[in-house]
Amino acid sequence: MASSPLQTCLVTRREELEQILQLQAANLKQHVSPEQAAREGFLTVAHTLDVLERMHALAPSVIAKDGDTLAGYALVMPVEARAFVPLLEPMFQLFETLSWRNRPLRDHRYYVMGQVCVAEAWRGQGIFDALYRGHRESYGTRFDCTVTEVATRNTRSMRAHTRVGFELLKTYRDATDEWAVVAMPLHG
Ligand SMILES: CC(C)(COP(=O)(O)OP(=O)(O)OC[C@H]1O[C@@H](n2cnc3c(N)ncnc32)[C@H](O)[C@@H]1OP(=O)(O)O)[C@@H](O)C(=O)NCCC(=O)NCCS
Repeated sequence: MASSPLQTCLVTRREELEQILQLQAANLKQHVSPEQAAREGFLTVAHTLDVLERMHALAPSVIAKDGDTLAGYALVMPVEARAFVPLLEPMFQLFETLSWRNRPLRDHRYYVMGQVCVAEAWRGQGIFDALYRGHRESYGTRFDCTVTEVATRNTRSMRAHTRVGFELLKTYRDATDEWAVVAMPLHG
């Protein structure tokens, strides 16, 4: 894979949150064809600007930009933000029952990586890895690990998450999909 010339940074402006919503909308599963979802991946949860602003106030998310264009994002969702997206409450309840590296997850300092997306023109160019490098650099002293869920049929995303070091905690099925719960150490 070619290494990316882009740097990642933390969100600093409201316009960047709006760009995240635009990129998100273009990749929601109801907005992409089944073929594209199978080949390129897809997103399930739609946020609002209000929710992103409240998450941002707790912990800014990691983005990759090319000039003013958003190339990708990986959202930071601290546990304190769980009430912001009621749809995700069952996920947070499940996390309370899981262990990572032989200790209950709740005994680790963790946050949820709320959603990752790389703009189509930038896929396969190292942005994904750079976003998670940004997570380690920005949050590796405050947190031990980050946890996320990937639809197992999103094979592109599954493969990329495994490649950057996410470890499988559990697989389960709900009304929408089958999910892999995965965690990545942020330091050590
Ligand atoms: C998923 C996503 C974030 C990954 O970013 P990316 O830049 O495309 O990822 P990369 O190219 O770095 O890695 C993709 C990996 O999947 C592989 N891959 C590509 N297409 C694939 C497919 N259809 N099925 C399985 N693996 C595939 C690539 O070979 C690569 O693996 P490798 O490095 O082991 O060879 C990006 O494609 C995306 O935003 N998709 C739409 C939204 C989405 O699905 N977000 C994730 C939600 S959990």
